[in-house]
Amino acid sequence: MIITIDGPAGSGKSTAARMLARRLKIAYLDTGATYRAATLAAIQAGADLRDPAALAQLVGRLEIGLHYRGDDLAVTVGPQDVTREIRLPEVSDKSHYLARAPAVRAVLVDLQRRMGLKLAAEYGGVVSEGRDQGSVVFPQADFKFYLDATPEVRARRRCDQLLADGQQADYQEVLQAILLRDGRDRSRSVAPLIKPPGGVEIDTSGMTIAQVTDELARLVQAARP
Ligand code: DC
Repeated sequence: MIITIDGPAGSGKSTAARMLARRLKIAYLDTGATYRAATLAAIQAGADLRDPAALAQLVGRLEIGLHYRGDDLAVTVGPQDVTREIRLPEVSDKSHYLARAPAVRAVLVDLQRRMGLKLAAEYGGVVSEGRDQGSVVFPQADFKFYLDATPEVRARRRCDQLLADGQQADYQEVLQAILLRDGRDRSRSVAPLIKPPGGVEIDTSGMTIAQVTDELARLVQAARP
């Protein structure tokens, strides 16, 4: 069984995807981690982020690994463990250079498909989460979800997360950053963030993550024979 969950940053999709996978006792695939790992490698190699051909060549040579142990995900590039570094703000800020390069996406989409199919075979199913999982990577998925929330709600959630992590958060700054990332994700010419054909859209603005997970699980279980 393949379930895809796409949506913008802060829609709750990562947490919901993880919780849904746990509930259904199947695997979870964080495809954003592959873009982040590739971005970190490009930064570390001093690559010209505005040169898509150079980026594609570099990414084609990388050995990106996602290693799941229960709920924990370790990310490696070759022998290097990059689990923490890929979450740095610099990586978030620069990932759009790789995400908009078609030849980079081709390499990562192929990797995500192989990982997703392997996990699905091993665990009886996978919840694959990203921006283009239902539209490009797994168009034949058994269930496709598209989660969204207003930019204001997403900014508030992000601020709460930062504060809970003991970091500072300025609501207006966070909101502007979310609007910028939305624009980049939705307007790129290759694999833009869209509601996939046949996808079920859920507005999570007024919902808790637990409610979102319940709703996803209900929809999957109701449709299963
Ligand atoms: O979901 P995230 O913040 O970890 O994503 C990191 C970057 O990768 C962000 O620029 C969006 C991009 N991305 C993508 O283009 N397609 C995906 N399937 C997943 C992430």
